[in-house]
Amino acid sequence: MSFHLPAELAQQPTPFYYYDLPLLDQTLAALTVAARPGNFQVHYALKANSNLPILQRIREAGLGADCVSGGEVQRALEAGFAPDHIVFAGVGKSDAEINRALAADIFCFNAESVPELRVLSELAGSQGRTARVALRINPNVDAHTHAYITTGLEANKFGISLQDLAGVLDSLDSLPNVELIGLHAHIGSQITNLTVFADLSRKLNELQTWLEGRGHHLPHLNVGGGLGINYQDPDQHLIPDFAAYFGMFEQHLQRRPGQQVHVELGRAVVAQCGTLVSRVLYVKESQQVRFAILDAGMTELIRPALYGSHHHIQNLSSQAPALTYDVVGPICESSDTFAKGILLPETQRGDLVAIRSAGAYGEVMASGYNLREKAAAVYR
Ligand code: LLP
Repeated sequence: MSFHLPAELAQQPTPFYYYDLPLLDQTLAALTVAARPGNFQVHYALKANSNLPILQRIREAGLGADCVSGGEVQRALEAGFAPDHIVFAGVGKSDAEINRALAADIFCFNAESVPELRVLSELAGSQGRTARVALRINPNVDAHTHAYITTGLEANKFGISLQDLAGVLDSLDSLPNVELIGLHAHIGSQITNLTVFADLSRKLNELQTWLEGRGHHLPHLNVGGGLGINYQDPDQHLIPDFAAYFGMFEQHLQRRPGQQVHVELGRAVVAQCGTLVSRVLYVKESQQVRFAILDAGMTELIRPALYGSHHHIQNLSSQAPALTYDVVGPICESSDTFAKGILLPETQRGDLVAIRSAGAYGEVMASGYNLREKAAAVYR
């Protein structure tokens, strides 16, 4: 399979995000088939992409919503997710955000500290409600991914460290409006070495046994998200290997009878269906480097600038023999570079360029830096 831009979009003003909805549907179908045998509850992480047409399809496929802000909870409700399919995570939830989510009676808060639990209990009490919570633990499992997107190590700001857990459980005795229903962990994102999910499962198994010894039998286990995708060769890997991912938990996680296991996937659901489409403004040859200067930049896709991430780039207009290019954007930052020293067919002003696998953490991380206008999203 190779990438194809619908012909009518060749006239669309650039840059724009193109979303291939049939591919999203195929991805969702593969995901739900793979999740079914083990009966996993999948909550889609809205932070990866929160566009309504995408959310609606995800909801129709039967997934729930994993939100990290009041805005995301609001968006999930707008997209029609049932409140009891919404979870709210995040290390810094504001009172207003908590109140809003309590009023909507969402399924669960993933709580990360004692001060947060106190606020949850107090705010729930003043609404005459009980907040269901899962404790986000920091399992100290190395996800072997980029440092900026590693979250399950003790040096990270996320979760409750295992040494502090006993104290946190004790504090729950004095918090009448909080009901502990589960455990939550998320070790990082863009994880391609799936054995780390076995490490996570073993940590959770130990923890469960320890909790049971203290009289806590939890109906929910949330193992977070993190399944990576193939950025190098998207056409060969349009649909992530969901079966292998769920298989790790089926094999290694000791689920108690009747216990529900939740996952929160973001990237793996939406990355491959999105493409950033741009035009070449200029080709500039300096003494050392041949630059293809695009009309899209780090304002539309910050991942290469922020994490040094690779996105596959294709010239959709040229079949000429290849030359070496640095592909850059128009923003006044040297980090506004999509790729260095890559081979592309000989490129000229006006050529259309596809930057692939941009459906996750692309549009949601866009900024208006340099007073750039927001790029359009088109769906086919
Ligand atoms: N659950 C929690 C608690 C999370 O923090 C995240 C992602 C997810 C689920 C979803 O993870 P996923 O399945 O998408 O890996 N902007 C970065 C990624 C940041 C991920 C933050 N947390 C990037 O562009 O690579």
